[in-house]
Amino acid sequence: MLHRIDDTITLANGVEMPRLGLGTYKSAEGGDVEDAVAYALEIGYRGIDTASLYDNESGIGSAIAGSGVPRAEIFIASKVWNDEQGYDSTLAAFEASLARLGTDYLDLYLVHWPRPETPDTWRAMERLYADGAVRAIGVCNHLRHHLEPLISTADVLPVVDQYEFHPLLQQHDLLGYCEGHDIVVQAWAPLMRGRVAELATLVDIGARYEKTAAQVAIRWILQHGITTIPKSVHRKRIAENADVFDFKLTVEEMREIDLLDRGERLGAHPDHYPVG
Ligand SMILES: NC(=O)c1ccc[n+]([C@@H]2O[C@H](COP(=O)([O-])OP(=O)(O)OC[C@H]3O[C@@H](n4cnc5c(N)ncnc54)[C@H](OP(=O)(O)O)[C@@H]3O)[C@@H](O)[C@H]2O)c1
Repeated sequence: MLHRIDDTITLANGVEMPRLGLGTYKSAEGGDVEDAVAYALEIGYRGIDTASLYDNESGIGSAIAGSGVPRAEIFIASKVWNDEQGYDSTLAAFEASLARLGTDYLDLYLVHWPRPETPDTWRAMERLYADGAVRAIGVCNHLRHHLEPLISTADVLPVVDQYEFHPLLQQHDLLGYCEGHDIVVQAWAPLMRGRVAELATLVDIGARYEKTAAQVAIRWILQHGITTIPKSVHRKRIAENADVFDFKLTVEEMREIDLLDRGERLGAHPDHYPVG
């Protein structure tokens, strides 16, 4: 387990998803995102996370097309944004994402935030899945009280919940709920948006293995069986964030990091989704 950058986890529907992928929020088109994706693919990353919100799907599509890596070996995830939710608008948003990415299918399509329209959005997601346009469907930022009604009415269950997860925000109840319902958790902001080095515990643990706090955070997430998508536009950091397969945190070290949980969010609360 956890030996290589392209290690995968099997989703509830049998699809293999890389445990570690590249995040691209705020990776700008026109140079940064193209280079980040091209370099990540070159060094072995196989998962790329984007969203229509990020306004970089075309750049990601060009980087993938120029990478020489077969499309079938790359796991591409995108998301339907808040103002695209609803049945017809989700179908249209999906087609637009496909066109920008230059692909004829997605590996994973996610509802970006829970919203009042999400039941209609989900019916569109189910249709895309049934049509074979997407290999797996899931959600982001869904807490238990968002997941429960979705699960009780869905024909196709979400197989992924991508939500904010890092040492200061662990939401163990939600994690347990997801694990109990075969929903793979994918951690966003795994590096606390660059602030992880402020945690002395992670810096100290890292020093024992000649690893950075960022590497310890990613390793800790992976050892919990959680998947993640750290973002960087810098080659050195893209490589650093994937250089986490040659050390293993002890049970005590895992526990030390578990104890840092303060329920502290860096992003929006899922009950107050960003508008726009
Ligand atoms: N579903 C959702 O609602 C949602 C919300 C937020 C994010 N996401 C996804 O999750 C991904 C990750 O989350 P995130 O981008 O918010 O935060 P993150 O991955 O925790 O942190 C990214 C920040 O950390 C810096 N960084 C990267 N590697 C580093 C390293 N080794 N040492 C120090 N700093 C480092 C990056 O700067 P540089 O780029 O300058 O290196 C960037 O400022 C996103 O990119 C996106 O794909 C999803």
